[in-house]
Amino acid sequence: MTDDGTRILVVEDQDTLRRGIALALRETWRCVEEAARGDVALERLRDERAETFDVVLTDLRLPGADGIAVLRAARERDPLTCVLVMTAYGSVESAVEAMKSGAFDFVQKPLDLEQVELRVARAVEHRRLLGEVSDLRAERAARDAGGAIVGDSPALRAAMDLARRVAPTRSTVLITGETGTGKELIAGLIHGASPRAAGPFVKVNCAALPETLLESELFGHERGAFTGADRERVGRFEQASGGTLLLDEVGDMSPATQAKLLRVLQDQEFHRIGGTRTLRTDARIVAATNQDLQEKLRDGRFREDLFFRLNVIRIDLPPLRERQEDAIALAHHFLQRFANALERPLRGFTESALERIRAHPWPGNVRELHNAIERAVLMADGPRIGCRDLSLFGERSASDADGWRPELPPNGVSLREVERHLVLEALSRTDYVQKDAAALLGISRRKLNYMIQRMGITHATWRRNRTQPKGEGRAA
Ligand SMILES: Nc1ncnc2c1ncn2[C@@H]1O[C@H](COP(=O)(O)OP(=O)(O)OP(=O)(O)O)[C@@H](O)[C@H]1O
Ligand SMILES: [Mg+2]
Repeated sequence: MTDDGTRILVVEDQDTLRRGIALALRETWRCVEEAARGDVALERLRDERAETFDVVLTDLRLPGADGIAVLRAARERDPLTCVLVMTAYGSVESAVEAMKSGAFDFVQKPLDLEQVELRVARAVEHRRLLGEVSDLRAERAARDAGGAIVGDSPALRAAMDLARRVAPTRSTVLITGETGTGKELIAGLIHGASPRAAGPFVKVNCAALPETLLESELFGHERGAFTGADRERVGRFEQASGGTLLLDEVGDMSPATQAKLLRVLQDQEFHRIGGTRTLRTDARIVAATNQDLQEKLRDGRFREDLFFRLNVIRIDLPPLRERQEDAIALAHHFLQRFANALERPLRGFTESALERIRAHPWPGNVRELHNAIERAVLMADGPRIGCRDLSLFGERSASDADGWRPELPPNGVSLREVERHLVLEALSRTDYVQKDAAALLGISRRKLNYMIQRMGITHATWRRNRTQPKGEGRAA
């Protein structure tokens, strides 16, 4: 007896025959299960908690459900399962039908047990080879899938490694990071390196749609579910079955939609809007957000239970300013790409341009860099991209404020006061829109918000709880 973990299912309603076959097979393989009815076999095959079979040997005519249904269920559950069908002697049509439906082989009744063992052994070997090929494919896909991701910083490498490690599982992954850091690329890597790579990769931007539209987008709706629903609609959860569903900007979901999403994550079941049918999805969920979900948890704007469901595996992409080596590698990569696409023979960057790329805070991260290089390639008239090509656009950087340099007074100055002065000035110039003020200062909005709190600056147009600590100091 070998014990290589091979699992075999025998489906046959004649008790003596089934037991005889199982007994014979158990001389070689330890895990041989039996089912005396078609419907029992179906139930066993569809039980997601139970293991799959390598080989299924099934009769065609069975009580409860026929052998073709068993064959289909087995292959639906695991496309690598090899199914052998037992057909009545001389019934060529049924053998042909079985083969058309994806059977690996058939054996004719009355059975010759030795023949059965031989055929089963062949199926087991075939299944083993299929498994090896599929593993090799997955390995190669995992290697290829990261191909479009540029950068060699330890932080990016760690993120990619983790993505590749979780890819083969069904675990839910939460990808966090500022806007433009490459969250969608990492989601694509997870899908591409997973066994679902051939299945659909479906993306939904949860921030782009109002509540009802988002729900119809996710779950679909039946015809007439609401005004304007003049046709039924298949939701993204259904579309993503067998593949991966990326819930982008998941932090922006309304509380009601959060509750519905939680239910799908728990039971893998949902209803279309206006529908009563219970639908199932096996989509693998990857969520992404550029918001601080922990902060939203504290304010009660994001459900804790949903957070824990999503946050099974967390991949955090640090901002580009914290991985300067990636900024440089990406700049060269984008230069190549745009120089080729725009047919401009550029040979790289000047030293000062590189210096500038390193020093810039890149609040828009890789997306900003991408756009900056595209414009620079268009602007450059020398053989290299210089500082001036870069400085024609973009936001102020720490190293360059269009030539403006503050002078240190002879007796020195309080840096804190200067900082405060500049923050106030930026705020008043932008009508206290923090996002715009942060852009003027070349820092992230989060950083500005933190500074504002530290400095105790408040303004009537700001929501009190977010920006006002205890201090009463009024701005302007
Ligand atoms: N490491 C990288 N290598 C190559 N391209 C990258 C990398 N990181 C990001 N990009 C590119 O930068 C752009 C922004 O990336 P992506 O859309 O994945 O960001 P994001 O984190 O999802 O942003 P947002 O939060 O705004 O949705 C894309 O064009 C993407 O291809
Ligand atoms: Mg994105």
